[in-house]
Amino acid sequence: MDVLNVVITLAGLCFLLWVLWGRDRFRVRPDVRWYLTGYLLMALRVVFTWKRVCQINDLSVSYRPNMRSIGGGFVVRGESLRVSAPRIGWPMPTRDGIRLRVRLRPGQTPGPFLQAGEAFGHAWRAHSVRVTSPARGWLEITATGGDPLGKGEPPAEGPGVLLRAEVGRMETGKRWVIDFKLIPHWLIVGATQSGKSTLMTRLVTELARQPVALLGIDCKGGMELSLFAPRLSALATNRSQAVALLETIVTEMGDRMGVCRQHGARSLWELPDSVRPVPLVVLVDEVAELYLTTGAKSEKEEAAACATAMLRIAQLGRALGVYLVVAGQRVGSDLGPGVTALRAQLGGRICHRVADPQTAVMTLGDLNPDAVAVAQAISPAEAGVAVTATETGGWVRARSWLTTAEDARGVAHQSAALVPWLPFLHLDDGRGGGEAA
Ligand SMILES: Nc1ncnc2c1ncn2[C@@H]1O[C@H](COP(=O)(O)OP(=O)(O)OP(=O)(O)O)[C@@H](O)[C@H]1O
Ligand SMILES: [Mg+2]
Repeated sequence: MDVLNVVITLAGLCFLLWVLWGRDRFRVRPDVRWYLTGYLLMALRVVFTWKRVCQINDLSVSYRPNMRSIGGGFVVRGESLRVSAPRIGWPMPTRDGIRLRVRLRPGQTPGPFLQAGEAFGHAWRAHSVRVTSPARGWLEITATGGDPLGKGEPPAEGPGVLLRAEVGRMETGKRWVIDFKLIPHWLIVGATQSGKSTLMTRLVTELARQPVALLGIDCKGGMELSLFAPRLSALATNRSQAVALLETIVTEMGDRMGVCRQHGARSLWELPDSVRPVPLVVLVDEVAELYLTTGAKSEKEEAAACATAMLRIAQLGRALGVYLVVAGQRVGSDLGPGVTALRAQLGGRICHRVADPQTAVMTLGDLNPDAVAVAQAISPAEAGVAVTATETGGWVRARSWLTTAEDARGVAHQSAALVPWLPFLHLDDGRGGGEAA
């Protein structure tokens, strides 16, 4: 009766808040809507169905009750078996779901609970359920109410931290951040229309507001990166231009090494502010275009030059403030001998929907083998959803914020004044930046 009173009171309070706060605000604040309505319902479902779900899925343990026997081992009095589900605490609210602590009974292991995730999801009407074992004898079950990776609105732009870009949202409800100081080089892979360029667009939108130089290589005729033309210090739209740009960057890295040596610094970040060169972010879309050749000697030479330069940037760039983002549909050794070596240097991995299982294995398999199946399960309807490495060494599903071409152009124009002067590009267009390599 007491529980019923508490539930009725809580429901009444939620209704009151709903009326007072206004329905419209609920629409724009899904987290508040969840705390006041969905959370309570799911918590009650969990508490009331827990024992039954455990019993049906063999997650309970049976204790033999006391029996009295008389000679010869004959049982003359007995009671039915006592079935006990593991103990749970009250489901705690998260931004879009619940978190439940479970104390395992002696003899139980997490395995069967991991497999029962789907059953919990159906019983609690949850979008997804994840079971982990943070400590021996304990489980933590997190369930989300709605699809956390549903299409949403990006948050209002903040000032931004240098070389950190918030590109979307993770399935855990947290921000999806690409941090170049933590992981300097990134590989973005996915089938056509899976969301690679959209992610790159969002990344550039974020970096455009920071004091960094952006250099683009887009061998799809510059169709994607040219949106940012006013903010880019250079844009190569074919392989010959790409070779020239990449080799210029490699030369600049040599000069930066000299500056570091002169000041006794082991990296660009140890240099005094007055002499520190501006960080460079090199963005490469459709990387396969740099490697594929018809077999002609000149093309082969260009492809080899691209491969060597990109590899050098990936190997030496971090300490010299040069960062690489490479996007492509495939990253297999069939593209050329340099691809495998480059892939090994790109520590940040993002895998969208893939057309063949090998691509997922190549992108995630060497760092996160268990993420491969998850990447393969991304459907064509989930454009923008990807599996990405986390800062703690694991992986998580995430979705990029959709940035329209109009928004991208707007950001590029607003931030055009931030294009830094790069003497090594030898441009003389009077605005302290450049247009094309
Ligand atoms: N995060 C997202 N949220 C919603 N829709 C998205 C998202 N990312 C991509 N899309 C949709 O998918 C379409 C294709 O995305 P995008 O051009 O980024 O794919 P791509 O992988 O670069 O494809 P291609 O290899 O053909 O260049 C976009 O036009 C957009 O409609
Ligand atoms: Mg693309």
